[in-house]
Amino acid sequence: MSLFKRKSKPVVGLDISSTSVKLVELSMQSEGYQVESFAISSLPAGAVVEKNINDVDLVADVIRQLLNKSRCKIKDAAVAVAGSSVITKVIDMPSGLTEDALEEQITIEADQYIPFPLDEVAIDFEIQGQANEDSNVMQVLLAACRKENIELRIAALEQAGLTPKVIDVEAYAIERALPLIVDDWEADADQLVAIMDIGATVSTLSVLKNHQTIYAREQLFGGNNLTDEIQRRYGLSQAEAEQAKVQGGLPDDYLADLLEPFKETVLQQVTRSLQFFYSSGNYSQVDHIILAGGVARLGGLAPLVQDHLETLVSVANPFVSMKYSSKVSSEDLTEAAPSLLIAAGLAMRGID
Ligand SMILES: Nc1ncnc2c1ncn2[C@@H]1O[C@H](COP(=O)(O)OP(=O)(O)OP(=O)(O)O)[C@@H](O)[C@H]1O
Ligand SMILES: [Mg+2]
Repeated sequence: MSLFKRKSKPVVGLDISSTSVKLVELSMQSEGYQVESFAISSLPAGAVVEKNINDVDLVADVIRQLLNKSRCKIKDAAVAVAGSSVITKVIDMPSGLTEDALEEQITIEADQYIPFPLDEVAIDFEIQGQANEDSNVMQVLLAACRKENIELRIAALEQAGLTPKVIDVEAYAIERALPLIVDDWEADADQLVAIMDIGATVSTLSVLKNHQTIYAREQLFGGNNLTDEIQRRYGLSQAEAEQAKVQGGLPDDYLADLLEPFKETVLQQVTRSLQFFYSSGNYSQVDHIILAGGVARLGGLAPLVQDHLETLVSVANPFVSMKYSSKVSSEDLTEAAPSLLIAAGLAMRGID
């Protein structure tokens, strides 16, 4: 099992998150990427808690539903583990070792780098290059993740009839998908791009420079906070509150009493997350903020953040310059796009 291995056969990207599973299938055509299929299905409460699979059977059922709904025919799949469950470290190794020799050496020395019992972790590595030209050491990126985290994902995929080909890290999937969104990224790779993924339960701020993540931090905050308030205020079940939130139909006082204050809270979360980033290092201003995750779909949120922080803010749409197959409703895809960043970055693993 490989955290880094490059693949050239198409894989279907599956983002197993706390409230839903999201599927994206891409192909490469002469004009660039094409979206072959996509789908989102909700998970029953408790199936995945934060980023941990609690109930493999429930997750496998939902993946099977997704495959039917999307009519995706690919059986090889890519999934990701959360950045917070992975430890990465850059280590020096003698240059010139073959991959096999390197693997052997790293396996022997890994306990120096990894603060968990080795029989509980899965380890992978990628050669980053020489420290400098005439150096006799090379830098190797080591990644370790608790085995259980990976094994439960593999079990869910296999039970749904898929072959797990790639186990990625969410942050790397975001890195891969981001150039699809930032259009002047090639011209100005130096710019600092902040991406705030606000999902149902977790918000992740990542900051990238030169196409690489230089900072990431998760917080327990998301759209469920608003759903909870709707439930309490109007005496609804979770499913009812969730549906009313997205499709409308709540009483008039919802806007002023719950929705506007929630947007202000989101603004505060973004502001505070950025302040954490600024206080951790050498930067005092990002150049571009991208909002992703379902909460980014809230009307008026991007302008609110942009006005307040006086920084360019956009809403993530990794498909903005892609073509679609006839299986895909472009309207539905555009709606869902901010939530599909990780799934898109995973699907790209089969192509690049
Ligand atoms: N149109 C919308 N308006 C407001 N909120 C929305 C809309 N669409 C989705 N959401 C909210 O976005 C959240 C789901 O976002 P997303 O799909 O990114 O989460 P997730 O990836 O399942 O969660 P997490 O990343 O926390 O595990 C839910 O709280 C949902 O209510
Ligand atoms: Mg998510």
